[in-house]
Amino acid sequence: MTLLATGADKARVLAETDAVVGLNNVSLSVPSGAIYMVMGLSGSGKSTLARCINRLNEPTAGKILLDDIDIVPLREDALRELRRTRISMVFQHFALLPNKSVIENAEFGLKLRGVSAARRRRRAEEVLAIVGLAKWAYHRPHELSGGMRQRVGLARALATDADVLIMDEAFSALDPLIRTEMQDELLRLQHTLKKTILFITHDFQEALKLGTRIAIMSEGELVREGTPQSIVLEPGSDYVAAFTREVDRSRLFDARSVMRTGSTVSGDGSARIVGDAEHPEAMSFAIDASNRIVGCLDAAALQQVKAGKPVGDLLTRDFVAVSGATKLVDVAGLYQSGKAMAVIDEDGRFLGMLEPEHILGRIASAARSPAPASMGGHNA
Ligand SMILES: Nc1ncnc2c1ncn2[C@@H]1O[C@H](COP(=O)(O)OP(=O)(O)OP(=O)(O)O)[C@@H](O)[C@H]1O
Ligand SMILES: [Mg+2]
Repeated sequence: MTLLATGADKARVLAETDAVVGLNNVSLSVPSGAIYMVMGLSGSGKSTLARCINRLNEPTAGKILLDDIDIVPLREDALRELRRTRISMVFQHFALLPNKSVIENAEFGLKLRGVSAARRRRRAEEVLAIVGLAKWAYHRPHELSGGMRQRVGLARALATDADVLIMDEAFSALDPLIRTEMQDELLRLQHTLKKTILFITHDFQEALKLGTRIAIMSEGELVREGTPQSIVLEPGSDYVAAFTREVDRSRLFDARSVMRTGSTVSGDGSARIVGDAEHPEAMSFAIDASNRIVGCLDAAALQQVKAGKPVGDLLTRDFVAVSGATKLVDVAGLYQSGKAMAVIDEDGRFLGMLEPEHILGRIASAARSPAPASMGGHNA
């Protein structure tokens, strides 16, 4: 700890002492009800972080707050209670008991916690139904596929009713098709369960699909944290950029994230005109008092409005409106040459405008923008 405090890195600590730095200076906050992803290369400290949270690993220093309870100083009985009621863990390799039936595996956590046989059986039946394994309750794990076995692991974690789930590479051992199925299943379950999930993975596509936020670990430290979109846009280092390189940006970013909001450039009593002051050649939109688009104008028409002609005489309907949540890949499909594009909200209110170059710029820029100079890297 003293060496670390002087700025020594993990390698130096290992060389000069007999201690391994598992985690150093990791500070993050997991929003309640979120699926929070932790990513990083092998050995970066992901499992160590996960195991600190329920104190399978004892942190040497620092705080781990669950709501406002610090987990680190908890005594054995309080810790046991916390593991019983608040935090469950799903492991990478199923960790099922091979000579117990599926339902015995699902209720195993409850059995350890002293729940009566009848009650735990009822609860296990419920959770097996939730994960779609009701029919398999009295089979042995070896009769199940990998994905089904992983669902037994999930059922076992759900059985305890803990509101925090820690899933350490829970899907990594599954083949790609089953893995996709399990991801969909988790998203479906989460829709109703609304657990707080810390999900460890080394697969960035999985992080994008499941995560509301992503933390990226390297050498025991947290090197980047943010929403998937922000991490892809500004990886900040070559290490992070390497994860984001293969990401299909057109499926990640939506219309809202690339639109220009513009500003009021002209108007009359019937409508205000919102345009892009920096690009006077671009189309502009006439917006009524309830923020709905009444039409669009080209640059020449805008000049005439500015010269005093009524807006209503100059409007055309040469535009396409897309919702703010439309992914860029779908926006591209709606683009019609010569037509302006507007972004609207669920109620049809104007949010902003799109130019083809905004879309292309966003899809391309993150892929080739150099890392900030302070991080010293050029990721071509
Ligand atoms: N029990 C232990 N004793 C000593 N060092 C350990 C122990 N467990 C983990 N480490 C070290 O802590 C570091 C982080 O390991 P950790 O298991 O957290 O990595 P990880 O990111 O989960 O990797 P993987 O993707 O391979 O699971 C590694 O350098 C490892 O050698
Ligand atoms: Mg691990």
